[in-house]
Amino acid sequence: MKILGIETSCDETAAAIVEDGRTVLAETVHSQIVEHQKYGGVVPEIASRCHVECICQVVEETFLKANLTFQDIDAIAVTAAPGLIGALLVGVNYAKGLAMSTNKPLVPVHHIRGHVAANYIAHPDLIPPFLCLVASGGHSHIVVVHSYTEFEVVGRTRDDAAGEAFDKAARVLGLPYPGGIYIDEVSKQGDPFAYQFPHPKAEGPYDFSFSGLKTAVINLVHNKQQKNEPYKIEDVAASFQETVAQILTDKLMKAAEHYRFDTVAIAGGVSANSSLRAHLQKACLQSGRKLYAPPLKLCGDNASMIACQGYYEFLAGARADMSLNGCASRSINEGAY
Ligand code: KG4
Ligand code: ZN
Repeated sequence: MKILGIETSCDETAAAIVEDGRTVLAETVHSQIVEHQKYGGVVPEIASRCHVECICQVVEETFLKANLTFQDIDAIAVTAAPGLIGALLVGVNYAKGLAMSTNKPLVPVHHIRGHVAANYIAHPDLIPPFLCLVASGGHSHIVVVHSYTEFEVVGRTRDDAAGEAFDKAARVLGLPYPGGIYIDEVSKQGDPFAYQFPHPKAEGPYDFSFSGLKTAVINLVHNKQQKNEPYKIEDVAASFQETVAQILTDKLMKAAEHYRFDTVAIAGGVSANSSLRAHLQKACLQSGRKLYAPPLKLCGDNASMIACQGYYEFLAGARADMSLNGCASRSINEGAY
């Protein structure tokens, strides 16, 4: 079964065709980063306009790469929640138009479920249940993946998402947007133990909080600048990254222990982080657990993960009609519709 996936929830316009949920036949990602970089973050209005301008071309290019036509696909899966509403609506309306004109089933997909599904593409042996840390620019959750379409959030950030903290720390260090990848890069030249940053406490045992940590980095840099004291960006970045990696690893391992999972996975943009991966690999090796992580190109937003999750949603009976709308905020347990 071939599914066309469409993703426009933030600043990537993406399309992919995936066979039986696991095999990517073709994928295209058009990133808008350069459009937003000069503003230091995603500008929603600009994101929507960019999606409108390039969605047709991104889908056409994907069909050309796969050497397929609209008639060859069995269903259209689209990210319907959560995300920037204006951005979501572009993909949702494109998918509705295509479903109507081709008479193909329309399958709404929850963006975070899609991030989890990126692991299925890379790892044919991974099947639920397992425990997954989803850390992206807008979300940080520890999720029990009961089945392909049943999820339970057991831990979450109480304030900023991990990616948001990376982006804010990068900004104060003068690194470009989105900052996560630059923090990761400069940290390779830094000392991860140069500075002691706080491990902020959060309510639930598997919850986390990044707001205080982000503020600590900002305060440190501002203090140094005001006193005209030298500091190494690489050391601040590496110490901040080390702290985030320690917090996320600690919480994920504690949750795995409590919920008795031998299989853990990571997903979302922050799962590309080299320090987080190294910490988790070590912790899993020590505790006899198996760690699954998506390849780097599937950590960020893409449509292969949406087509993959769309396949499992389709099998579970998810269908949308022409009343499908985008939804800016929706829990992973609820799904997209
Ligand atoms: O999943 P994603 O592409 O988009 C959302 O759904 O939010 O995540 C984007 C986030 C950004 O905050 C970006 O800075 C962060 O992922 N990110 C990283 C790395 N690569 C991307 N954070 C830490 N280390 C990285 N290597
Ligand atoms: Zn995402």
